[in-house]
Amino acid sequence: MESLKLKQENMLLNKRICVIGLGYIGLPTAALLANRGYSVCGVDIVESTVDTINQGKIHIVEPDLDTFVKGAVNSGKLKAKTNPEYADIFIIAVPTPFHEGFVPNIDYVIEATKAIASYIQDGNLIILESTSPVGTTNLVEKTLQDMGVDTSNIYIAHCPERVLPGQIMRELVENDRIVGGTTPNATKKAANFYKTFVKGEVLETDAKTAEMAKLTENSFRDVNIAFANELSILCDKFGIDVWELIKLANRHPRVNILQPGAGVGGHCIAVDPWFIVYAAKDDAKIIKSAREVNTYKTEWVIEKIKNVVNEFQLKNSTKPKVAIMGLAFKPDIDDLRESPALYIAKRLNDELENIVCVEPNISLDTKLKGNIKDLSLVSIEDSLNSDIVVFLVAHKEFKELKLDNALDFCGVLQ
Ligand SMILES: NC(=O)c1ccc[n+]([C@@H]2O[C@H](COP(=O)([O-])OP(=O)(O)OC[C@H]3O[C@@H](n4cnc5c(N)ncnc54)[C@H](O)[C@@H]3O)[C@@H](O)[C@H]2O)c1
Repeated sequence: MESLKLKQENMLLNKRICVIGLGYIGLPTAALLANRGYSVCGVDIVESTVDTINQGKIHIVEPDLDTFVKGAVNSGKLKAKTNPEYADIFIIAVPTPFHEGFVPNIDYVIEATKAIASYIQDGNLIILESTSPVGTTNLVEKTLQDMGVDTSNIYIAHCPERVLPGQIMRELVENDRIVGGTTPNATKKAANFYKTFVKGEVLETDAKTAEMAKLTENSFRDVNIAFANELSILCDKFGIDVWELIKLANRHPRVNILQPGAGVGGHCIAVDPWFIVYAAKDDAKIIKSAREVNTYKTEWVIEKIKNVVNEFQLKNSTKPKVAIMGLAFKPDIDDLRESPALYIAKRLNDELENIVCVEPNISLDTKLKGNIKDLSLVSIEDSLNSDIVVFLVAHKEFKELKLDNALDFCGVLQ
């Protein structure tokens, strides 16, 4: 029995895998699979990404990923290309953002599907890992059919990724995975593949349920954060300390309220609930409200800061220096994607004078780069002589600061 299992595993390991999209999800997955013995071809449309990986180096920041990529490239098990090639298993891990007006953008998924169409052969397994609106996996199949591919002997499944940046290499292996195929056979095939490298449980369902499960997980987080954010606004109105209130309410054995903040950011929680709302505007009432509450909280914070600035000005007849503490979308990372703190800093910088920003996770040298180039990035020390200090992100470096009269929107001084 044991030797049969080993034989089956070895048969799987002989398979060739093509991973489309070599970003935060695709590259760790490709490198992990190559280290497990699979022959992996990683594909990305960005040439510099492909070149970097083929040198055994990485273009994104993620602990331990460099070791995995170096090992995989040196052993010859991982190579990167700008075009797909024939394989047994195709994994699609391309971005799924939204267009203007929160309309889901699955263009990258469709482009990636079209790119692999001419390399698909009978018996192939195609797995969509990108977070996707319900129905996208079926659309992958339809796209292939429209390209002339006979999909009757092809297996297509969705397996959403739920790793936490910063712990991706560990969570890729340890997390439970949901696998849903467009047919029961596709589900089985995909589940058997994940079982060769996942230590967590591999849970089988259909494609639509798997798609909705991922959107549900992120909407759950969004709704619960919205509850905390709404409480923070109510408490401000009633003159109550929201942090104390939540601590007290959480002593109820079945209550677990999350912490409020300056809004909700990142490329997942602030994006994915819109995929549900777009598909069911009239019925996704709580999910839509939660998105609106979390977006409103950011505007509310801006108004609060502006009011304090105005009061200072009236009292002192001079414009205050304002320090914005934290730009990332959550504590202790450098990721600025969809960050409410960055949005607030930019708005205040546009509308007021004397704004300085502190982001301990971003080197001061990078201040000229990208979307923070217009902001004045300073060290913690250089911010402390400001007239008004505003905490937006609870980075660990801020926790040691002892400041009276700071505006704390993230509970870092608690
Ligand atoms: N990053 C996370 O923590 C995380 C967690 C869970 C789920 N996801 C989901 O996984 C998917 C991928 O996210 P990511 O963070 O890896 O994105 P990313 O932007 O880091 O990487 C995507 C890569 O795909 C490449 N690409 C785009 N179109 C391509 C094409 N047609 N062919 C080949 N390459 C192409 C891009 O150049 C890029 O390198 C998204 O749906 C995301 O929502 C991400």
